[in-house]
Amino acid sequence: MEQMTEKSKMTARNVSVFYGDKRAIDNVSIDVDMENVTAFIGPSGCGKSTFLRTLNRMNDTVASARVEGEITLDGEDIYASSMDVVQLRARVGMVFQKPNPFPKSIYENVAYGPRIHGLASNKADMDVIVEQSLRKAGLWDEVKDRLSDSGTALSGGQQQRLCIARAIAVDPEVILMDEPCSALDPIATAKIEELIHELRGRYAIVIVTHNMQQAARVSQRTAFFHLGNLVEYGETSEIFTNPRQERTKDYITGRYG
Ligand SMILES: Nc1ncnc2c1ncn2[C@@H]1O[C@H](COP(=O)(O)OP(=O)(O)O)[C@@H](O)[C@H]1O
Ligand SMILES: [Mg+2]
Repeated sequence: MEQMTEKSKMTARNVSVFYGDKRAIDNVSIDVDMENVTAFIGPSGCGKSTFLRTLNRMNDTVASARVEGEITLDGEDIYASSMDVVQLRARVGMVFQKPNPFPKSIYENVAYGPRIHGLASNKADMDVIVEQSLRKAGLWDEVKDRLSDSGTALSGGQQQRLCIARAIAVDPEVILMDEPCSALDPIATAKIEELIHELRGRYAIVIVTHNMQQAARVSQRTAFFHLGNLVEYGETSEIFTNPRQERTKDYITGRYG
């Protein structure tokens, strides 16, 4: 794969992932950077989520999973024994398919991470972090008068933006989103897509989506996965208008789902 970016925030080299004996990701190398949103696309079961989870070691929580190869964040091997995984997951935050706010107040959902990471020394500092995180997530105006209401009382789209605020609150460098809109209606989806545009450049963003229109709308780089392989990675406009690989062409023209 050609090196497309000058400053890579994260790099993966020859990464394979196994569940027991079964190989779910086969020798994938890719770079992601701060300037571009990267979309991972491909049919269900091709390994998008598996590969995404290697980027913040979420696969560590799956007993049968084994990761081979090298992944770096700012040049540092994230699988090194010296890597603090809790710290890593603050630096590389994750937003899941189904919004999963804690059954706590809106305020506490956002304050939780900064508190365990010791990012605020007093209540006033924490208030600032909570407000700024909710603002960056495009949620502040909708919740500022009800910060003590439960996060779970919000609409699905608001809950997903709360989860984004929660990720932002610990000052991450990378945000991983695994089909963040698949449980949302079109209006809530449009809000999240707008938000991704606004967050671009501040964070390296990787989004898994099975929706090709969404990939075309939100990303500047697209990686097409098929059967555990990274088939093609390039500029989103190129991937969708002029794919180099036959398998990519077949997928984007809807020949298989
Ligand atoms: N926890 C797991 N244990 C065993 N196999 C898994 C697990 N998670 C995913 N797989 C398998 O790995 C492959 C890739 O899955 P996944 O990464 O979820 O694909 P995608 O996100 O592209 O739909 C699939 O064959 C799936 O069944
Ligand atoms: Mg998935």
